[in-house]
Amino acid sequence: VIEVIQGDALRVVPGLPAGAYNLIATDPPYSSGGLFRSDRAVVPLKKYLPDEYHAKYQNMGFSGDNLDQRSWTRWTMEWMGDLLRVAAPGAVLMVFIDWRNLPAMTDAIQGGGWVWRGILPWSKTAAARPHKGYFRNQCEFVLHATAGPLPGEQTHAAEVPCLEGFFVYPITNKDKHHPTGKPTALMRDLLAVCPKGGRVLDCFAGSGTTGVAAAQLGLEATLIEKDDHHIETIRRRLVDEAPLVTTGEGAV
Ligand SMILES: C[S@@+](CC[C@H](N)C(=O)[O-])C[C@H]1O[C@@H](n2cnc3c(N)ncnc32)[C@H](O)[C@@H]1O
Repeated sequence: VIEVIQGDALRVVPGLPAGAYNLIATDPPYSSGGLFRSDRAVVPLKKYLPDEYHAKYQNMGFSGDNLDQRSWTRWTMEWMGDLLRVAAPGAVLMVFIDWRNLPAMTDAIQGGGWVWRGILPWSKTAAARPHKGYFRNQCEFVLHATAGPLPGEQTHAAEVPCLEGFFVYPITNKDKHHPTGKPTALMRDLLAVCPKGGRVLDCFAGSGTTGVAAAQLGLEATLIEKDDHHIETIRRRLVDEAPLVTTGEGAV
């Protein structure tokens, strides 16, 4: 079952059952993309996407992407703490970020009580936006952490093999359903850390890529997303890309 809940993660997560999730994989608004207030206030489309995507997403923004770094860190630390309560002992947290708010995210993970374990770079390849006369910022990062000791030290080392620590997936128009949507194959690779029968939570679900990957791997998931048009996309994608799955409704 993939449960889809429309609402604000900071209100919804505190109502979820304690210790219920084995894996939390999420991709929050980065509030990134600029040094100055005026840069950050630009709509996400212009901050994060090359020109060729602007027509496809021209009416589609998303919530929560304009905090300054101090407010963003405080906000992030708050939901990090909420997530720790709903994590099973040894559960894994994976959270996306770009280079600019990477240091703030490492603070927020640890401030929220998680044991920070490392960074998985995801290369978007040379298809990422160029930077003339300088290095291309072609990687985003998946920071990972655990709720207490590593799960391998407890139960599921036998079930989960040694996994890759570096990923290369270009973003393709066909597999992109949100201005900052992640490749479904990347999410499947990341979700491989979840033991069989495990339960996944994504509290900033966007177009639901985590839910689609979870369904394709036979995992249960709860998806939380605030914006109407992305909720519609999640429902459509679950029907199109994971047709055997039952979709549950959560109301908040
Ligand atoms: C970076 S996007 C996630 C994209 C997703 N990984 C995908 O592949 O489509 C972050 C999402 O979080 C949502 N969001 C922002 N603030 C939120 C909040 N407080 N509660 C729930 N969702 C929120 C935004 O609307 C946006 O769709």
